[in-house]
Amino acid sequence: MPERLDRSILAVPASEPEKVKKAVASAADAVFLDLEDAVPPDQKDAARGEAARALQELDWGSKTRMVRINGLDTPWAYRDLVEVCEVAAASLDCVVVPKVGRPEEVAFVDILLGQVEARLGLAHRIRIHALVESAQGLANVDRIAAASPRLEALSFGPGDFAASVGMPASAIGTHDAWDDLYPGHRWHYAMQRVLVAARAHGLRAYDGPSAEFRDLGAFRRLCLVARALGFDGKWCIHPAQIPVVHEVFSPTPEEVAWARRVVAAYEAAQAEGRGAITVDGKMVDAASLRMAHATLARSRDR
Ligand code: COA
Ligand code: MG
Repeated sequence: MPERLDRSILAVPASEPEKVKKAVASAADAVFLDLEDAVPPDQKDAARGEAARALQELDWGSKTRMVRINGLDTPWAYRDLVEVCEVAAASLDCVVVPKVGRPEEVAFVDILLGQVEARLGLAHRIRIHALVESAQGLANVDRIAAASPRLEALSFGPGDFAASVGMPASAIGTHDAWDDLYPGHRWHYAMQRVLVAARAHGLRAYDGPSAEFRDLGAFRRLCLVARALGFDGKWCIHPAQIPVVHEVFSPTPEEVAWARRVVAAYEAAQAEGRGAITVDGKMVDAASLRMAHATLARSRDR
């Protein structure tokens, strides 16, 4: 499993080459070229060629290179995989599979990618990022998370999920009057469920997109909720959202300093035969050590 610390995943329609250039030149940690919902049906075929060209010809620097294929219940998905991967597999890190409802869908993508890799003699293994955004997907999320060793992450998709279960929502992944009315956080169950399934299988977890790209204060609150639960990062649909995601999903210098103090104090205490000590006026034991290591694992300044 490649160790990625991606916090932001920027979506861009593969059918819009000028926007794709800007996305690839942006500050995002990862970019996915969308073949699915941001591309109209009459442009689906042409968009594959655009995606393959962008993967091969643009300078992606250290960005994670991703493509989102169409759902496996459409007539486009298998051609997305074959046409993009056969041409550009060497420049592709990960395939995002949307609307995953059953583990068999992940297994299908795994097997097909394996065939393409074998034919090309590819040196690296293309990864899978599964998007859980339906009632069926959430009901099967543990089996989905276990479906392939190629899986590296799960994302929760709020827009399609709302449509799938009949939740009223005025826009994709935004806060509205329904959220104020609900006693608690009405996305909590679905988000926590996806997060726990991901972690139980050693995967990273991302909160999906928010259509809120003008009111960055409101967007930041959505990021903080996802961060509070433990998500690694969030999708962006607009470059303005990227710095907000980086700020919220990076451990602060204070958090990193606390983690280093805990590790140092705990190691010193263990050498003296003690397992519970006081740091900054609070009890520290082996669980604190695991929390500290989790913080340091998310730090780019290790
Ligand atoms: N990637 C790269 N550049 C983007 C971008 C994106 N996702 N979204 C906007 N930009 C660029 C615009 O092209 C524009 O560039 P310019 O100043 O050089 O002309 C600049 O950022 C400002 O854009 P703005 O005018 O604020 O927004 P817009 O009206 O052009 O676009 C959206 C708004 C929502 C249509 C656009 O952000 C978008 O296409 N987002 C991605 C949609 C998507 O992929 N959805 C599927 C996954 S959920
Ligand atoms: Mg969706």
